[in-house]
Amino acid sequence: MNVDGIEKAALAAVDAATDERSLDDARVRYLGRRGELTVLLRSLGAIDAAERPAAGARINAAKARLQEAIERRGGALAAEQLEQELAEEAVDVTLPGRSRSGGSLHPITMTFRRIERIFEAAGYDVVSGPEIEDEYHNFEALNMPADHPARAMHDTLYLDNGMLLRTHTSPVQIRTMEARPPPIRVICPGRVYRKDNMDASHSPMFHQVEGLVVDEGIAFADLKGAVVDFVHGFFEQDLGVRFRPSYFPFTEPSAEVDVQCVHCLGDGCQACGQSGWTEVLGCGMVHPNVLANVGIDTERYTGFAFGFGVDRFATLFYEIDDMRLLFDNELRFLEQFA
Ligand code: DAH
Repeated sequence: MNVDGIEKAALAAVDAATDERSLDDARVRYLGRRGELTVLLRSLGAIDAAERPAAGARINAAKARLQEAIERRGGALAAEQLEQELAEEAVDVTLPGRSRSGGSLHPITMTFRRIERIFEAAGYDVVSGPEIEDEYHNFEALNMPADHPARAMHDTLYLDNGMLLRTHTSPVQIRTMEARPPPIRVICPGRVYRKDNMDASHSPMFHQVEGLVVDEGIAFADLKGAVVDFVHGFFEQDLGVRFRPSYFPFTEPSAEVDVQCVHCLGDGCQACGQSGWTEVLGCGMVHPNVLANVGIDTERYTGFAFGFGVDRFATLFYEIDDMRLLFDNELRFLEQFA
């Protein structure tokens, strides 16, 4: 009976095992139900009874040593396996990080918010109206009947159903006066549309803010005060402001407002065409026809209105020389305002 030989071969097989599977194969081969040592132990019955105890003890001792060797090898293989996995999954903390750029508000949005903050502080409500309008609110109620020459200047985009894309935010004046009685003190920020081609100072879609104040005893002096306060608040400096007589169908008298050029402060430069001034706003006293169209008593109430391009204020404030930059959505440009 070659117990020593079998034990030697078994220990060698255990040492040679390179993974859990080959280790288990070795265990089955020697210790399994039909394993070599198991079979040897079972065959003890066939040998001389006097030798049986000593032979049994030798086989059991060999089994115990083999069992121990298998456990030891199993532990070593598991440790090796873990080492390997850790090495493969290692994170190289010296690699440079991937930076993520945080989002930011568009300069137009920031300009809208600046404007709204200033007017809200002065007691104005912020209201809005539809971008798809009817001719009545966009023109007629604003004292522009069908044959009015000012309509041609608006280059209106009409829809198939007779509606149109509002050409200015002034129709929100009408909707506001239809919805609430005086005293009224509102601004209406929003998008407007005209059949214009895109260039450095035009876009088929642009942004306006309309202002409307209606109350007893409102005079042109109130309009001047409101506009001058707003301009000074917006640009955070006391720029010169001048009112030039002008014409709008929905105001009488009407004026256009120029602000001292933010670049040269009046000296004249390329940005202001050497004039020292930049036109920024239209305004006037609400025409009595407009008040009458919404049923407001023109003997009791007067009002003023103004309207201006937000893109203009944004380009002046952020010193952007081409309006197209506001519409391109070029991230390298927009990230500068983060
Ligand atoms: N609606 C005019 C436009 O789009 C701007 C404007 C001028 C609005 C004078 C007003 C105003 O309220 O009084 O060109």
